[in-house]
Amino acid sequence: MGNNVKAFIFDLDGVITDTAEYHFEAWQALGKELGIEFGREFNEQLKGVSREESLERILALGDGKADLSTEEKGRLCDQKNVHYKKLIQGITPDDILPGIIPLLEAIRKAGIPTAIGSASRNAPAIISLLELDSYFDYIVDAGKVKAGKPDPETFTVAADHFDVPYENCIGIEDAHAGIQALKAAGMFAVGVGSEEHLSEADFLVESTTDLKFDALVEAFGRKE
Ligand code: BG6
Ligand code: MG
Repeated sequence: MGNNVKAFIFDLDGVITDTAEYHFEAWQALGKELGIEFGREFNEQLKGVSREESLERILALGDGKADLSTEEKGRLCDQKNVHYKKLIQGITPDDILPGIIPLLEAIRKAGIPTAIGSASRNAPAIISLLELDSYFDYIVDAGKVKAGKPDPETFTVAADHFDVPYENCIGIEDAHAGIQALKAAGMFAVGVGSEEHLSEADFLVESTTDLKFDALVEAFGRKE
């Protein structure tokens, strides 16, 4: 089973661990300081996109803030990241979402390579805090790509590293921008979340508990 699956590529924030919540908290706090309030629905548009693009989208919600200087925007991004890093400093292996370790173990047993495909520059640090380094053969973070999600580059760089065809990769994502990136790469897109936000996914599960190796490979096989 799984003969045609040649790589698994995982998003990090919101798939491996619940850091998506910390990103939300840190952006919301920064927004408040700027007088720009937003909730979970708007936050869906921030998931998976780069730090700089997230700030642009938040500023666009506010009145006339979008014309801040590049330096000022850089300072706001740094401020959000300092807050975010404080929130993640206590992360331990207990914060790995349910179902992830059994899935990673099944993938290892099947001898299929694994990568992280994340928009976050904090990705390598978080993988280390979760003590998951040995489960991933390669990490693509924002530092390794020119164009972030929804551009496919985050995922194609990982597949190219393993020298495997894109159509033989399974990608797992919790963000709309991430599913778009996987589809643009020609990969099998597994969504974790709601139909409302991830309707373009090839296979959708409600939570990481439902990410079962056999079910993913079977769904991939049905699509072929
Ligand atoms: C993505 C998150 O993984 O990384 C986004 O879904 C975040 O919310 C982006 O903005 C960039 O992360 P960082 O840690 O480099 O600011
Ligand atoms: Mg995510």
